[in-house]
Amino acid sequence: MVNKPDWLKTGSIERLWNTSFAHQIKQGAYNTAPVEAIVRSVSHHYRAKEFIKHDFKKLKFLEVGCGAGANLAWLAEQGIRISGIDISQEALSLCKKTLKRKGLEKNIEILTQASASDIPCPDEYFDGIIESCVFQNLPSELRIKAFSEVVRLLKPGGLFIGHMLSRKHSTFKNQVNNTAQTEPGTLILNSKNTKEKINLEDIGLAHFFAKKEYKKLLRGCSIIDPCESLYRLPKVEASRRGYDYYQHAMWIVYAVK
Ligand SMILES: C[S@@+](CC[C@H](N)C(=O)[O-])C[C@H]1O[C@@H](n2cnc3c(N)ncnc32)[C@H](O)[C@@H]1O
Repeated sequence: MVNKPDWLKTGSIERLWNTSFAHQIKQGAYNTAPVEAIVRSVSHHYRAKEFIKHDFKKLKFLEVGCGAGANLAWLAEQGIRISGIDISQEALSLCKKTLKRKGLEKNIEILTQASASDIPCPDEYFDGIIESCVFQNLPSELRIKAFSEVVRLLKPGGLFIGHMLSRKHSTFKNQVNNTAQTEPGTLILNSKNTKEKINLEDIGLAHFFAKKEYKKLLRGCSIIDPCESLYRLPKVEASRRGYDYYQHAMWIVYAVK
């Protein structure tokens, strides 16, 4: 491990996510299923390459911001060697428990606390990198670094699948005109709920990506193909979360170095 950078020593992002995980655990709200966009995109990529089960064992994948480990568990179930980094120790211990409970510990290579913008692994180390709902909450400078870490860490021909907010999201549409915007697409959201850190608003900063951003952020990748996915939460689920109407709008970014 490299030394902690200064901003991590001050620990505000780390504290925010530790608190969020403590609340998510209390409410049973953390992600326990792999993100469909990631499962589908990784599966399509390797199906096109006519991969067989045996070949997956040769692959090394990293999840940036692995949270409770649902995506890593799915990758490990395919036979892939997995690594995960997360800023939150709470998330990492949940992730370890998930992998242990599923008997997937043998597939772990690295599972450690680190920042998405400064990942302590050598260049061109991974065949694949995934991220879901992590880069969207980083301030501009760290977000740019996080994408450049992805390009640095991927082997030539390696795969990146990212899953992040788009500007068609109902939260962006509802709040863009009455919320502080530090740069186009970045809102400083106000929490309705000062105690629990569960909804998007509770995290504070959220960046809603535009398609044209990816070319610059993923400079060094030979294929960059973002596709937008929109889905409305059922009314009952929207109101359980405190909304009249809630439309997810996410980019599924497929890129190959
Ligand atoms: C919304 S959760 C998503 C978890 C997981 N990717 C999933 O799809 O289930 C965001 C995760 O990113 C982590 N995270 C937030 N900022 C980070 C940073 N700067 N570096 C590394 N991890 C970070 C949080 O601790 C949390 O586990």
